[in-house]
Amino acid sequence: MVPRFHLSPDGPEVSSLAFGLWRLAADPEGASPAHVRRKIDACLAAGITTFDHADIYGLYTCEGLFGRALAEDPGLRDRMEIITKCGINAVCDNRPGVRVAHYDATAAAIERCVERSLRELRTDRIDVLLIHRPDWLTSAEETARGLQRVIASGKVRHVGVSNYNVHQYALLGRFLGRAPVTNQIEISLLHMDAIWDGTLDQCQAAGVHPMAWSPLGGGRLAAGDQPEAVRTREALRRIGAEYGATPEQMAHAWVAALPCRPQVVIGTNKPERITEAAASASIRLERQHWYELWSAAQGRRVP
Ligand SMILES: NC(=O)c1ccc[n+]([C@@H]2O[C@H](COP(=O)([O-])OP(=O)(O)OC[C@H]3O[C@@H](n4cnc5c(N)ncnc54)[C@H](OP(=O)(O)O)[C@@H]3O)[C@@H](O)[C@H]2O)c1
Repeated sequence: MVPRFHLSPDGPEVSSLAFGLWRLAADPEGASPAHVRRKIDACLAAGITTFDHADIYGLYTCEGLFGRALAEDPGLRDRMEIITKCGINAVCDNRPGVRVAHYDATAAAIERCVERSLRELRTDRIDVLLIHRPDWLTSAEETARGLQRVIASGKVRHVGVSNYNVHQYALLGRFLGRAPVTNQIEISLLHMDAIWDGTLDQCQAAGVHPMAWSPLGGGRLAAGDQPEAVRTREALRRIGAEYGATPEQMAHAWVAALPCRPQVVIGTNKPERITEAAASASIRLERQHWYELWSAAQGRRVP
């Protein structure tokens, strides 16, 4: 079973891998409640209890598709943690009135989004609400006020952020009176910014596990033909053979080995790949293998 930890010292207990719902509406096999349930069951059987949503996923349809599966089994909601995000307005049929894609992390927008997500997900609470991306036009004080209101209402248990830089994270934390429970950011062998921009160090300092999105580089590590993807996959395959692990499992283990222990957010639509990804949690990468993969991805030795 996938191990568990607290996302932050005063945050919720979660599984070390989370299941991301971004691609739910794009599943070639459809998104009937029964098919969504198959994926939920594959997660729960492996100990993956954290489900990562955003209101915008599937252009505002994925929360509803998941909610239909939840509604069919009243006990199911209590077996999982639901994370969702708010604050991105896209131009689409489901957002009449939006002329230009934009961010909105005002208090009123946060409260509106929470009401909608609760309705779509058919639940009475959100375990963790994240601001999806920093809204450059809203003060951190205003965003913090909105987040505090939804916590006070009992509709949201914990709050965090996504794609915040270190300054934005610290600033919001100052107005919240505590560190956001996580910062969900892109981390993979093909995207290492967080290693050197201070984000991971900031998480360590706060005792916070970041959430790592697109751990397979959005699928490029599994199937991409870009030169860095091809040479990294070759190294993952070669080193993985020593661990009896697939390249994808090795890629997940590489992210999970970082000292702040990111929660790895997987994005497959295939139940069997969920089971396979969960098994990566027991891989302990040897130091030189970790660096060998770093070097393969970067195409250079460490300086
Ligand atoms: N906060 C943010 O701004 C943000 C941004 C992006 C994503 N996210 C979150 O992160 C989650 C994961 O992102 P992601 O979907 O890009 O993750 P990913 O794991 O990097 O990529 C998943 C993609 O890889 C493909 N894939 C191909 N071969 C695979 C294999 N052998 N094993 C597993 N996957 C394989 C999957 O296709 P199959 O379905 O065919 O397996 C899927 O399309 C999202 O669902 C979302 O919750 C957050």
